[in-house]
Amino acid sequence: MILVTGGAGFIGANFVLDWLATRDEPVLTLDKLTYAGNLQNLAALAGDPRHVFVQGDICDRALVEGLLARHRPRALVHFAAESHVDRSIHGPEAFIRTNVEGTFTLLEAARAYWSTLSDVESAAFRFHHVSTDEVYGSLAPDAAPFTETHPCLPNSPYSASKAASDHLARAWFHTYGLPVLTSHCSNNYGPFHFPEKLIPLLIVNACAQKPLPLYGDGLQVRDWLYVGDHCAAIRRILDAGRPGETYNIGGWNEMTNLAIVEQVCALLDALAPRADGIAYATQIVHVTDRPGHDRRYAIDARKIERELGWRPAETFASGLEKTVRWYLTHADWVKNTQSGSYRDWVLKQYGEGAT
Ligand code: NAD
Ligand code: TYD
Repeated sequence: MILVTGGAGFIGANFVLDWLATRDEPVLTLDKLTYAGNLQNLAALAGDPRHVFVQGDICDRALVEGLLARHRPRALVHFAAESHVDRSIHGPEAFIRTNVEGTFTLLEAARAYWSTLSDVESAAFRFHHVSTDEVYGSLAPDAAPFTETHPCLPNSPYSASKAASDHLARAWFHTYGLPVLTSHCSNNYGPFHFPEKLIPLLIVNACAQKPLPLYGDGLQVRDWLYVGDHCAAIRRILDAGRPGETYNIGGWNEMTNLAIVEQVCALLDALAPRADGIAYATQIVHVTDRPGHDRRYAIDARKIERELGWRPAETFASGLEKTVRWYLTHADWVKNTQSGSYRDWVLKQYGEGAT
Protein backbone atom coordinates (compact mmCIF):
# COMPACT_ATOMS: atom_id res chain seq x y z
CA MET A 1 0.00 0.00 0.00
CA ILE A 2 0.93 3.65 -0.18
CA LEU A 3 0.60 6.28 2.57
CA VAL A 4 -0.80 9.65 1.44
CA THR A 5 -0.61 12.68 3.74
CA GLY A 6 -3.10 15.51 3.20
CA GLY A 7 -5.36 13.19 1.19
CA ALA A 8 -8.54 14.98 2.28
CA GLY A 9 -7.39 18.29 0.76
CA PHE A 10 -7.76 19.50 -2.81
CA ILE A 11 -4.89 17.80 -4.66
CA GLY A 12 -4.50 14.93 -2.18
CA ALA A 13 -8.15 13.89 -2.55
CA ASN A 14 -7.94 14.02 -6.33
CA PHE A 15 -4.78 11.92 -6.10
CA VAL A 16 -6.33 9.27 -3.83
CA LEU A 17 -9.49 9.03 -5.98
CA ASP A 18 -7.49 8.81 -9.22
CA TRP A 19 -5.08 6.29 -7.70
CA LEU A 20 -7.84 3.90 -6.65
CA ALA A 21 -9.62 4.38 -9.98
CA THR A 22 -6.53 3.41 -11.95
CA ARG A 23 -4.68 0.99 -9.65
CA ASP A 24 -5.51 -1.80 -7.29
CA GLU A 25 -3.02 -0.86 -4.60
CA PRO A 26 -4.57 0.22 -1.24
CA VAL A 27 -4.15 3.71 0.20
CA LEU A 28 -3.77 4.85 3.80
CA THR A 29 -4.72 8.52 4.06
CA LEU A 30 -3.39 10.57 7.00
CA ASP A 31 -4.99 14.00 7.34
CA LYS A 32 -5.52 16.37 10.26
CA LEU A 33 -8.74 17.74 8.70
CA THR A 34 -7.86 21.41 9.09
CA TYR A 35 -10.29 23.95 7.58
CA ALA A 36 -8.94 22.83 4.15
CA GLY A 37 -9.42 19.11 4.73
CA ASN A 38 -12.83 17.65 3.99
CA LEU A 39 -13.87 14.01 4.27
CA GLN A 40 -16.65 14.73 1.81
CA ASN A 41 -13.90 14.84 -0.84
CA LEU A 42 -13.35 11.11 -0.25
CA ALA A 43 -17.03 10.18 0.11
CA ALA A 44 -16.90 8.09 -3.10
CA LEU A 45 -14.56 5.69 -1.25
CA ALA A 46 -16.95 4.94 1.61
CA GLY A 47 -17.00 1.17 2.11
CA ASP A 48 -14.04 0.59 -0.23
CA PRO A 49 -11.77 -1.85 1.66
CA ARG A 50 -8.76 -0.54 -0.29
CA HIS A 51 -8.92 2.79 1.55
CA VAL A 52 -8.13 3.51 5.19
CA PHE A 53 -8.51 7.00 6.63
CA VAL A 54 -6.74 8.18 9.78
CA GLN A 55 -7.33 11.63 11.22
CA GLY A 56 -4.05 12.86 12.65
CA ASP A 57 -1.22 15.37 12.54
CA ILE A 58 1.97 14.79 10.53
CA CYS A 59 3.82 16.47 13.43
CA ASP A 60 2.82 13.55 15.69
CA ARG A 61 5.90 11.35 15.42
CA ALA A 62 4.51 8.46 17.48
CA LEU A 63 1.37 8.34 15.35
CA VAL A 64 3.33 8.37 12.06
CA GLU A 65 5.78 5.73 13.31
CA GLY A 66 2.92 3.53 14.45
CA LEU A 67 1.17 3.82 11.07
CA LEU A 68 4.35 2.98 9.17
CA ALA A 69 5.06 -0.04 11.37
CA ARG A 70 1.48 -1.34 11.18
CA HIS A 71 0.70 -0.74 7.50
CA ARG A 72 4.21 -1.11 6.01
CA PRO A 73 3.68 1.15 2.96
CA ARG A 74 6.03 0.86 0.00
CA ALA A 75 5.77 4.61 -0.65
CA LEU A 76 4.78 7.82 1.11
CA VAL A 77 3.26 10.67 -0.93
CA HIS A 78 3.41 13.88 1.07
CA PHE A 79 0.77 16.51 0.23
CA ALA A 80 -0.16 17.70 3.74
CA ALA A 81 0.55 21.40 4.11
CA GLU A 82 -0.80 24.79 4.92
CA SER A 83 -1.17 26.00 1.34
CA HIS A 84 -2.70 29.48 1.08
CA VAL A 85 -0.32 32.42 0.57
CA ASP A 86 -2.77 35.01 1.94
CA ARG A 87 -3.29 33.02 5.14
CA SER A 88 0.50 32.71 5.51
CA ILE A 89 0.72 36.51 5.48
CA HIS A 90 -1.88 36.84 8.27
CA GLY A 91 -0.50 33.93 10.34
CA PRO A 92 2.80 32.30 9.35
CA GLU A 93 3.19 30.12 12.45
CA ALA A 94 1.00 27.24 11.29
CA PHE A 95 3.01 27.16 8.04
CA ILE A 96 6.29 26.69 9.88
CA ARG A 97 4.76 24.02 12.07
CA THR A 98 3.09 21.87 9.43
CA ASN A 99 5.25 22.54 6.38
CA VAL A 100 8.66 22.55 8.08
CA GLU A 101 8.30 20.60 11.35
CA GLY A 102 5.72 18.26 9.85
CA THR A 103 7.94 17.40 6.89
CA PHE A 104 10.90 16.93 9.23
CA THR A 105 8.83 14.55 11.37
CA LEU A 106 7.74 12.53 8.34
CA LEU A 107 11.29 12.32 7.00
CA GLU A 108 12.60 11.11 10.34
CA ALA A 109 9.81 8.57 10.81
CA ALA A 110 10.24 7.36 7.23
CA ARG A 111 14.00 7.05 7.69
CA ALA A 112 13.60 4.95 10.82
CA TYR A 113 11.02 2.71 9.11
CA TRP A 114 13.05 2.47 5.88
CA SER A 115 16.12 1.31 7.83
CA THR A 116 14.15 -1.74 9.02
CA LEU A 117 13.23 -2.87 5.48
CA SER A 118 14.88 -5.70 3.60
CA ASP A 119 17.36 -4.74 0.86
CA VAL A 120 14.77 -5.29 -1.85
CA GLU A 121 12.07 -3.34 0.00
CA SER A 122 14.36 -0.45 0.92
CA ALA A 123 15.59 -0.09 -2.67
CA ALA A 124 11.98 0.08 -3.88
CA PHE A 125 10.76 2.50 -1.15
CA ARG A 126 9.89 6.07 -2.22
CA PHE A 127 9.23 9.30 -0.29
CA HIS A 128 7.52 11.71 -2.70
CA HIS A 129 7.64 15.30 -1.48
CA VAL A 130 5.02 17.47 -3.22
CA SER A 131 6.28 21.02 -3.60
CA THR A 132 5.43 24.14 -5.57
CA ASP A 133 6.89 26.43 -8.24
CA GLU A 134 6.53 29.29 -5.75
CA VAL A 135 9.82 28.30 -4.06
CA TYR A 136 11.68 29.66 -7.10
CA GLY A 137 10.45 33.23 -6.50
CA SER A 138 9.17 35.76 -9.02
CA LEU A 139 10.15 36.00 -12.71
CA ALA A 140 10.65 39.12 -14.84
CA PRO A 141 8.19 39.31 -17.78
CA ASP A 142 10.82 38.27 -20.33
CA ALA A 143 12.76 35.76 -18.18
CA ALA A 144 12.95 32.09 -19.15
CA PRO A 145 10.58 29.78 -17.20
CA PHE A 146 11.86 28.05 -14.04
CA THR A 147 13.99 24.96 -14.63
CA GLU A 148 14.85 22.52 -11.83
CA THR A 149 18.21 24.27 -11.35
CA HIS A 150 16.70 27.74 -10.83
CA PRO A 151 17.81 29.17 -7.47
CA CYS A 152 15.40 28.84 -4.61
CA LEU A 153 14.24 32.43 -3.86
CA PRO A 154 10.94 32.24 -1.94
CA ASN A 155 9.13 35.50 -1.16
CA SER A 156 6.09 34.63 0.98
CA PRO A 157 5.91 32.85 4.34
CA TYR A 158 4.15 30.00 2.48
CA SER A 159 6.82 29.60 -0.19
CA ALA A 160 9.62 30.03 2.38
CA SER A 161 8.15 27.21 4.48
CA LYS A 162 7.83 24.98 1.40
CA ALA A 163 11.41 25.81 0.37
CA ALA A 164 12.61 24.88 3.86
CA SER A 165 10.85 21.52 3.57
CA ASP A 166 12.39 20.98 0.11
CA HIS A 167 15.85 21.52 1.60
CA LEU A 168 15.13 18.97 4.33
CA ALA A 169 13.92 16.42 1.77
CA ARG A 170 17.03 16.98 -0.33
CA ALA A 171 19.32 16.60 2.69
CA TRP A 172 17.64 13.37 3.81
CA PHE A 173 18.46 11.90 0.40
CA HIS A 174 22.06 13.12 0.30
CA THR A 175 22.93 12.40 3.91
CA TYR A 176 20.94 9.27 4.70
CA GLY A 177 20.17 7.90 1.25
CA LEU A 178 16.39 7.97 1.86
CA PRO A 179 14.89 7.55 -1.66
CA VAL A 180 13.29 11.00 -1.90
CA LEU A 181 11.64 12.42 -5.02
CA THR A 182 10.54 16.07 -5.16
CA SER A 183 8.15 17.71 -7.60
CA HIS A 184 7.50 21.42 -8.14
CA CYS A 185 4.10 22.05 -9.66
CA SER A 186 2.45 25.22 -10.89
CA ASN A 187 -1.04 26.45 -9.87
CA ASN A 188 -3.62 23.65 -9.93
CA TYR A 189 -7.35 23.98 -10.53
CA GLY A 190 -10.20 21.46 -10.65
CA PRO A 191 -12.80 19.71 -8.46
CA PHE A 192 -12.59 19.94 -4.63
CA HIS A 193 -10.54 23.17 -4.75
CA PHE A 194 -11.28 25.10 -1.57
CA PRO A 195 -13.06 28.35 -2.56
CA GLU A 196 -10.50 30.69 -1.01
CA LYS A 197 -8.16 30.15 -3.99
CA LEU A 198 -8.61 32.21 -7.14
CA ILE A 199 -10.51 29.98 -9.60
CA PRO A 200 -13.06 28.40 -7.21
CA LEU A 201 -13.51 31.75 -5.44
CA LEU A 202 -14.40 33.37 -8.78
CA ILE A 203 -16.92 30.66 -9.69
CA VAL A 204 -18.57 30.64 -6.28
CA ASN A 205 -18.69 34.43 -5.92
CA ALA A 206 -19.94 34.90 -9.48
CA CYS A 207 -22.87 32.54 -8.91
CA ALA A 208 -23.70 34.28 -5.61
CA GLN A 209 -23.57 37.67 -7.41
CA LYS A 210 -20.74 38.81 -5.14
CA PRO A 211 -17.66 40.84 -6.17
CA LEU A 212 -14.89 39.06 -8.14
CA PRO A 213 -11.76 40.46 -6.43
CA LEU A 214 -8.61 40.97 -8.50
CA TYR A 215 -5.52 41.95 -6.53
CA GLY A 216 -3.79 45.11 -7.83
CA ASP A 217 -3.76 45.48 -11.62
CA GLY A 218 -4.63 41.79 -12.17
CA LEU A 219 -1.70 41.39 -14.54
CA GLN A 220 0.22 38.90 -12.38
CA VAL A 221 1.02 35.74 -14.33
CA ARG A 222 0.67 32.13 -13.20
CA ASP A 223 1.00 28.81 -15.03
CA TRP A 224 -2.17 26.74 -14.57
CA LEU A 225 -2.48 22.94 -14.60
CA TYR A 226 -5.59 20.77 -14.30
CA VAL A 227 -5.34 18.78 -11.05
CA GLY A 228 -5.82 15.40 -12.78
CA ASP A 229 -2.70 16.10 -14.83
CA HIS A 230 -0.74 16.85 -11.64
CA CYS A 231 -1.90 13.53 -10.17
CA ALA A 232 -0.85 11.66 -13.33
CA ALA A 233 2.58 13.30 -13.18
CA ILE A 234 3.08 12.22 -9.56
CA ARG A 235 2.10 8.64 -10.42
CA ARG A 236 4.61 8.69 -13.24
CA ILE A 237 7.39 10.06 -10.99
CA LEU A 238 6.62 7.43 -8.35
CA ASP A 239 6.84 4.71 -10.98
CA ALA A 240 9.93 5.84 -12.87
CA GLY A 241 11.52 8.91 -11.25
CA ARG A 242 15.09 8.71 -10.04
CA PRO A 243 15.56 9.10 -6.25
CA GLY A 244 17.24 12.38 -5.34
CA GLU A 245 15.88 14.12 -8.45
CA THR A 246 13.48 17.05 -8.63
CA TYR A 247 10.88 17.35 -11.40
CA ASN A 248 8.99 20.45 -12.50
CA ILE A 249 5.35 19.88 -13.42
CA GLY A 250 3.50 22.53 -15.41
CA GLY A 251 0.73 23.16 -17.90
CA TRP A 252 2.60 25.24 -20.52
CA ASN A 253 -0.21 27.67 -19.87
CA GLU A 254 0.82 31.10 -18.57
CA MET A 255 -2.07 33.48 -18.00
CA THR A 256 -2.72 36.77 -16.24
CA ASN A 257 -5.26 36.76 -13.43
CA LEU A 258 -7.34 39.17 -15.53
CA ALA A 259 -7.47 36.65 -18.39
CA ILE A 260 -8.49 33.94 -15.91
CA VAL A 261 -11.39 35.96 -14.53
CA GLU A 262 -12.51 36.86 -18.05
CA GLN A 263 -12.55 33.19 -19.10
CA VAL A 264 -14.40 32.08 -15.99
CA CYS A 265 -17.01 34.81 -16.57
CA ALA A 266 -17.41 33.91 -20.26
CA LEU A 267 -17.93 30.22 -19.41
CA LEU A 268 -20.49 31.08 -16.75
CA ASP A 269 -22.28 33.42 -19.16
CA ALA A 270 -22.61 30.42 -21.51
CA LEU A 271 -23.34 27.64 -18.98
CA ALA A 272 -25.32 29.44 -16.25
CA PRO A 273 -26.28 32.95 -17.41
CA ARG A 274 -27.48 35.46 -14.81
CA ALA A 275 -31.27 35.69 -14.65
CA ASP A 276 -31.05 39.44 -15.39
CA GLY A 277 -28.94 38.78 -18.52
CA ILE A 278 -26.06 40.96 -17.24
CA ALA A 279 -22.53 39.65 -17.93
CA TYR A 280 -20.65 38.18 -14.94
CA ALA A 281 -17.63 40.34 -15.84
CA THR A 282 -19.51 43.36 -14.45
CA GLN A 283 -18.87 41.85 -10.98
CA ILE A 284 -15.04 42.24 -11.32
CA VAL A 285 -13.50 44.65 -8.79
CA HIS A 286 -9.87 45.61 -8.30
CA VAL A 287 -8.87 45.35 -4.63
CA THR A 288 -5.71 46.15 -2.66
CA ASP A 289 -2.76 44.06 -3.83
CA ARG A 290 -1.25 41.22 -1.78
CA PRO A 291 1.91 42.36 0.08
CA GLY A 292 5.04 41.05 -1.70
CA HIS A 293 2.86 39.66 -4.51
CA ASP A 294 5.01 37.59 -6.90
CA ARG A 295 4.56 38.99 -10.39
CA ARG A 296 5.11 35.92 -12.51
CA TYR A 297 5.62 32.16 -12.22
CA ALA A 298 6.33 29.98 -15.26
CA ILE A 299 7.40 26.36 -15.38
CA ASP A 300 9.77 24.68 -17.80
CA ALA A 301 8.43 21.09 -17.73
CA ARG A 302 10.76 19.64 -20.36
CA LYS A 303 12.68 17.40 -17.95
CA ILE A 304 9.67 15.31 -16.92
CA GLU A 305 8.60 15.04 -20.56
CA ARG A 306 12.08 14.04 -21.74
CA GLU A 307 12.88 11.59 -18.94
CA LEU A 308 9.46 10.22 -17.99
CA GLY A 309 7.29 10.95 -21.02
CA TRP A 310 4.68 13.00 -19.10
CA ARG A 311 2.78 15.91 -20.65
CA PRO A 312 -0.52 17.46 -19.58
CA ALA A 313 -3.56 15.86 -21.19
CA GLU A 314 -5.99 18.74 -20.63
CA THR A 315 -5.94 22.10 -22.35
CA PHE A 316 -6.89 25.08 -20.20
CA ALA A 317 -10.20 25.35 -22.07
CA SER A 318 -11.12 21.68 -21.46
CA GLY A 319 -9.93 21.69 -17.83
CA LEU A 320 -11.68 24.95 -16.98
CA GLU A 321 -14.96 23.79 -18.49
CA LYS A 322 -14.82 20.55 -16.46
CA THR A 323 -14.08 22.60 -13.35
CA VAL A 324 -16.89 25.13 -13.84
CA ARG A 325 -19.37 22.33 -14.57
CA TRP A 326 -18.23 20.52 -11.41
CA TYR A 327 -18.88 23.58 -9.22
CA LEU A 328 -22.24 24.20 -10.87
CA THR A 329 -23.34 20.65 -10.03
CA HIS A 330 -21.87 20.48 -6.50
CA ALA A 331 -23.72 23.27 -4.69
CA ASP A 332 -23.92 21.14 -1.51
CA TRP A 333 -20.16 20.68 -1.42
CA VAL A 334 -19.67 24.43 -1.86
CA LYS A 335 -22.23 25.21 0.85
CA ASN A 336 -20.52 22.85 3.30
CA THR A 337 -17.16 24.58 2.82
CA GLN A 338 -18.69 27.95 3.66
CA SER A 339 -18.77 27.47 7.42
CA GLY A 340 -18.41 30.21 10.01
CA SER A 341 -14.62 30.01 9.81
CA TYR A 342 -14.79 30.51 6.03
CA ARG A 343 -16.91 33.63 6.48
CA ASP A 344 -14.44 34.90 9.12
CA TRP A 345 -11.62 34.46 6.60
CA VAL A 346 -13.47 36.28 3.80
CA LEU A 347 -14.22 39.17 6.16
CA LYS A 348 -10.58 39.37 7.31
CA GLN A 349 -9.18 39.25 3.76
CA TYR A 350 -11.75 41.23 1.73
CA GLY A 351 -13.59 43.31 4.35
CA GLU A 352 -17.28 44.17 4.77
CA GLY A 353 -19.40 43.80 1.65
CA ALA A 354 -17.56 40.72 0.40
CA THR A 355 -19.52 38.20 2.49
P1 NAD B 1 -5.02 22.01 0.68
O1 NAD B 1 -4.81 23.17 1.60
O2 NAD B 1 -6.26 21.95 -0.15
O3 NAD B 1 -4.96 20.64 1.49
C1 NAD B 1 -4.00 20.41 2.50
C2 NAD B 1 -4.44 19.17 3.28
O4 NAD B 1 -3.44 18.92 4.28
C3 NAD B 1 -5.77 19.34 4.00
O5 NAD B 1 -6.57 18.19 3.84
C4 NAD B 1 -5.37 19.51 5.47
O6 NAD B 1 -6.35 19.02 6.39
C5 NAD B 1 -4.09 18.67 5.52
N1 NAD B 1 -3.19 19.10 6.61
C6 NAD B 1 -2.82 20.37 6.91
N2 NAD B 1 -2.00 20.36 7.99
C7 NAD B 1 -1.85 19.05 8.36
C8 NAD B 1 -1.13 18.40 9.39
N3 NAD B 1 -0.38 19.09 10.27
N4 NAD B 1 -1.20 17.05 9.47
C9 NAD B 1 -1.96 16.33 8.60
N5 NAD B 1 -2.68 16.91 7.61
C10 NAD B 1 -2.62 18.25 7.49
O7 NAD B 1 -3.71 21.99 -0.23
P2 NAD B 1 -3.54 21.53 -1.76
O8 NAD B 1 -3.82 22.69 -2.64
O9 NAD B 1 -4.24 20.26 -1.97
O10 NAD B 1 -1.97 21.29 -1.82
C11 NAD B 1 -1.42 20.01 -1.51
C12 NAD B 1 0.09 20.08 -1.65
O11 NAD B 1 0.44 20.47 -2.97
C13 NAD B 1 0.75 21.10 -0.72
O12 NAD B 1 1.94 20.54 -0.23
C14 NAD B 1 1.01 22.29 -1.62
O13 NAD B 1 2.13 23.02 -1.16
C15 NAD B 1 1.30 21.61 -2.94
N6 NAD B 1 1.00 22.38 -4.14
C16 NAD B 1 -0.22 22.97 -4.30
C17 NAD B 1 -0.50 23.66 -5.48
C18 NAD B 1 -1.86 24.29 -5.72
O14 NAD B 1 -2.04 24.97 -6.74
N7 NAD B 1 -2.84 24.08 -4.86
C19 NAD B 1 0.48 23.78 -6.47
C20 NAD B 1 1.72 23.16 -6.27
C21 NAD B 1 1.97 22.46 -5.10
P1 TYD C 1 -4.00 31.80 -5.37
O1 TYD C 1 -5.11 30.96 -5.91
O2 TYD C 1 -4.08 32.28 -3.95
O3 TYD C 1 -2.64 31.03 -5.66
P2 TYD C 1 -1.09 31.55 -5.50
O4 TYD C 1 -1.03 32.84 -4.81
O5 TYD C 1 -0.53 30.44 -4.69
O6 TYD C 1 -0.55 31.63 -6.90
O7 TYD C 1 -3.89 33.08 -6.29
C1 TYD C 1 -3.61 32.99 -7.67
C2 TYD C 1 -3.41 34.39 -8.19
O8 TYD C 1 -4.64 35.11 -8.09
C3 TYD C 1 -2.39 35.19 -7.38
O9 TYD C 1 -1.66 36.03 -8.28
C4 TYD C 1 -3.24 36.03 -6.46
C5 TYD C 1 -4.49 36.27 -7.28
N1 TYD C 1 -5.75 36.44 -6.50
C6 TYD C 1 -6.58 37.53 -6.77
O10 TYD C 1 -6.29 38.38 -7.63
N2 TYD C 1 -7.75 37.63 -6.05
C7 TYD C 1 -8.09 36.73 -5.09
O11 TYD C 1 -9.18 36.91 -4.45
C8 TYD C 1 -7.25 35.61 -4.85
C9 TYD C 1 -7.60 34.57 -3.80
C10 TYD C 1 -6.08 35.49 -5.58
